[in-house]
Amino acid sequence: MKLSVIYDSKTGNTKQAGEWIVEGMNEVEGVEAKAFSIDSIDEDFVKESKGVVIGSPSYAAAMTPDLHDWLLNKSGNLELGGKLGGAFATQQFTHGGGDTVIQNILTIEMVKGMLCYSSGGACGGPCIHLGPIGVNNNKESHNGMEHYKDYFNIFGKRFGAKAVELF
Ligand SMILES: Cc1cc2nc3c(=O)[nH]c(=O)nc-3n(C[C@H](O)[C@H](O)[C@H](O)COP(=O)(O)O)c2cc1C
Repeated sequence: MKLSVIYDSKTGNTKQAGEWIVEGMNEVEGVEAKAFSIDSIDEDFVKESKGVVIGSPSYAAAMTPDLHDWLLNKSGNLELGGKLGGAFATQQFTHGGGDTVIQNILTIEMVKGMLCYSSGGACGGPCIHLGPIGVNNNKESHNGMEHYKDYFNIFGKRFGAKAVELF
């Protein structure tokens, strides 16, 4: 089963998070997962994917304008309706708005007819309520993306397992 992760990333943090999600997905037997920037999508692979996870940096607690434009105007031929959907974010402040970013992405996924999944609390710890968020060390020296690698891996593994179960 194919699964896709699609992200916007200007300085590499969200790309890194997406690749960690793919690593987790590929640990699930029968899953072939790949990550794509919105600038270089393998459309056939995404169309064949049963699930798509979409990620963005937090820009003023919202997704990037480029991702918003892509979702609204450029993703229409990817047959997203009916696929399992998830979302993730990165940010530079601990309280930098990532949950709002994820909510915005999930809302558009639902409008497109996707079936949204986060794992929530149903898998026990660590609970991932809406989707995983990574905080980089741009502004907070105690923080850093590497602290969040396990959360992205675990989310990817749970998402992959749920996609296999459903499809
Ligand atoms: C225009 C702009 C707005 C941003 N707004 C926020 C914000 O509201 N909260 C936050 O924590 N980080 C904010 N950031 C920082 C980015 O979200 C953060 O560095 C992110 O990890 C960058 O992702 P990327 O490396 O994938 O591009 C902003 C960055 C830019 C360029």
